[in-house]
Amino acid sequence: LNNGLALTPQMGWNSWNFFACSISEDLIKETADALVSTGLADLGYVYVNIDDCWSTATRNLKGQLVPDPKTFPSGIKALSDYVHGKGLKLGIYGDAGAFTCQVRPGSLFHETGDAQLFADWGVDYLKYDNCFNLGIDPKKRYPPMRDALNATGRTIFYSICEWGVEDPALWARGVGNSWRTTDDINDTWASMTTIADINDKWASHAGPGGWNDPDMLEVGNGGMTYQEYRAHFSIWALMKAPLLIGCDVRNMTAETLEILSNKEVISVNQGEFLSLLLPFIPSSLLPCLQPSQAFLCLLTRCPGRKVWAGPLSGNRLVVAFWNRCSKDETITARWEVLGLESSTHVSIRDLWQHKEVKDNAVASFGAKVDSHDCHVYIFTPKTVAHSES
Ligand code: DGJ
Repeated sequence: LNNGLALTPQMGWNSWNFFACSISEDLIKETADALVSTGLADLGYVYVNIDDCWSTATRNLKGQLVPDPKTFPSGIKALSDYVHGKGLKLGIYGDAGAFTCQVRPGSLFHETGDAQLFADWGVDYLKYDNCFNLGIDPKKRYPPMRDALNATGRTIFYSICEWGVEDPALWARGVGNSWRTTDDINDTWASMTTIADINDKWASHAGPGGWNDPDMLEVGNGGMTYQEYRAHFSIWALMKAPLLIGCDVRNMTAETLEILSNKEVISVNQGEFLSLLLPFIPSSLLPCLQPSQAFLCLLTRCPGRKVWAGPLSGNRLVVAFWNRCSKDETITARWEVLGLESSTHVSIRDLWQHKEVKDNAVASFGAKVDSHDCHVYIFTPKTVAHSES
């Protein structure tokens, strides 16, 4: 959507994955405080997004949505003032149907009034869900809210939460700033890997203004190991997915904060969009190339030993070695599958170890990767000096 937003995937926090309906204005304020005090805000996590359950079960006599007086007694305007005071942005949640998934009033046929209310409250982001949609085509239900938001004159990020059911990647570019490509994530290895693979299919549809959304991060919620969370964060970054933290940032472990704060991995996610590099990638690679995001090649005998890669600026590549096998494995990438000449000298930086691991690799590079872990490298091909002759 060409509204000036989402030039890179959105970053922030959302209440749903950890808190579900147990939310309140105090939680949102404390989360904003924690994003700032932990340094996450400075790294780009700026959206503080309230999910379902913020409103009462019915509209008021004027037909407006009403924040639950028990949990949000000061109202949303006061909350957005607070969040803005911290240098952050406030997100809210609605539904393109008769009700939200937790049976609060939906915005279908109320788009104009609800969008204006959100704008008047100083909201910066709307996540727009798909429950109780009365069987109406999403292509008919999502554009009216885009138009209503636009008509308010306030710039509001528009996140389409359509769960991928009607392949939103195929139609949502002109409608929203991101669109869900999958059903809900849960805090398990099986869910996370399945969602990564489904999302990857839509890679070519993402770009500045509109991104594939494989759902929010589960990092820090307790259901996966450190290695699995590191893989989750790495692959979401590579896929140019929204980086929306889904844990309790007021009570994170040092490990969780370390994963979410990896500046080098965040830079892969937020870096320049490089579809323009496509013409320089050899046609032999095109079957496994997903422009601008990851290209996934099954390079080895074991299908669980995966190499995901994609182009970065300056002819560099981001290359992830993701071991989805149940034991430690050596994963190797050969230059020809990465689109490099075999003789090219490549320097290799490991973005989790934060150091150069190879100065002059030629033809291939391999590394041992723990079960379910993911290494992320930047490959910088060395330019050959041309002699004047
Ligand atoms: C379904 C969405 O996919 C979730 O992310 C969350 O917003 C819930 N609905 C809330 O009810």
